[in-house]
Amino acid sequence: MSKPRVVLGVGGGIAAYKACELLRRLTESGHEVRVVPTASALRFVGAATWAALSGQPVATEVWDSVDEVPHVRIGKAADLVVVAPATADLLARAAHGLADDLLTNTLLTARCPVLFAPAMHTEMWEHPATRENVTTLRSRGAVVLEPASGRLTGADTGRGRLPEPAEIFDACRRLLARGAREPDLAGRHVVVSAGGTREPLDPVRYLGNRSSGKQGYALARTAAARGARVTLLAANTALPDPAGVDVVPVGTAVQLREALLKAATDADAVVMAAAVADFRPAVYAPAKIKKRDGQEPEPLALVRNPDILAEAAADRARPGQVVVGFAAETDDVLANGRAKLRRKGCDLLVVNEVGERRTFGAEDNEAVILGSDGSETPVPHGPKEALADAVWDLVAARLG
Ligand code: PMT
Repeated sequence: MSKPRVVLGVGGGIAAYKACELLRRLTESGHEVRVVPTASALRFVGAATWAALSGQPVATEVWDSVDEVPHVRIGKAADLVVVAPATADLLARAAHGLADDLLTNTLLTARCPVLFAPAMHTEMWEHPATRENVTTLRSRGAVVLEPASGRLTGADTGRGRLPEPAEIFDACRRLLARGAREPDLAGRHVVVSAGGTREPLDPVRYLGNRSSGKQGYALARTAAARGARVTLLAANTALPDPAGVDVVPVGTAVQLREALLKAATDADAVVMAAAVADFRPAVYAPAKIKKRDGQEPEPLALVRNPDILAEAAADRARPGQVVVGFAAETDDVLANGRAKLRRKGCDLLVVNEVGERRTFGAEDNEAVILGSDGSETPVPHGPKEALADAVWDLVAARLG
């Protein structure tokens, strides 16, 4: 089998040096990589480095090796084009269809999936011109990752860091696995909740659950790879932010509800994979609750939390919004799942079996996805990402 052909476009930003690690990961995992840096990128990392790491010639201009028609051939032959770092200038040129160097020519001739991993200062990322360029590129089916937050060039910090090379590599793998299929969630905004809420009892203790957030993060990653803009509401997780995803940390069920109602206003789909506490302590003790010699502990009074999924399903923020829930069951799994689907009123309910050492924190899952139309889609045991993709297949079909 021939190796998948990847074009690595490198923009002129300081993060160009991180693209060397991405290149390494791609070549070492059996991809044939052709690096196409811009002229500015070569000011940060020289052509010799790219050539040595890729084992391929490196050109920036359409005037090099004209007899080989590189401005057409490189893009047409690619299975994936990944641009990392994608500067504000490069995003603008790509959005406007300019073809003033080899990389922008390649972007115009490529018919394969295209992934941009932006890196720039926060002000540039937030500028309306860049926002519009990103929207344009996404509406055409390109996957534009959200930049990470953290240290930028110099002493600045903020949103605009290049996502970690491992995360970009992961997104590349996912796009290659999907092949030439159109990113079917391009132009869509999806909201995913992940992890488990914690309901504080006093400054030290809380009521919580065993969710790690892995299933929700898998949903977020796969949606981003399918072109969606993703908002991930992360309840008490300890996982790295997935590349290309806007992560909103939350603590309690009440906070999750607030964040969800806000994020869902313009969402095409809402997927509630978080394990939400049905009850919270009726009273929060502002100081640590003490044990008293010879006294039995006070019984714990609880009050109900809002049912976020039922509310989101009953009161859709926009017409046609697809609402998906998960059901974590320990017994009578399918019967309980079917009853829960009716109670919650969502379009799809992913029914999975859980236990102390089952599903929670695991890499794999298996489930039956129940549809409000009576459909039942079994998803066999496999990586949580496979279940996530099966969920998005059904969501994409409903979104038409
Ligand atoms: O995070 P992992 O370790 O990967 O584990 C994944 C998982 C087991 C947490 C996940 O696959 C899962 O099943 N998530 C849903 C857990 C849950 O809360 O299930 P439930 O049956 O109690 O709730 C049904 C649905 O209603 C869920 O979508 C839940 O988010 C929602 N809910 C529940 C209570 C509440 N007050 N508000 C809600 O919105």
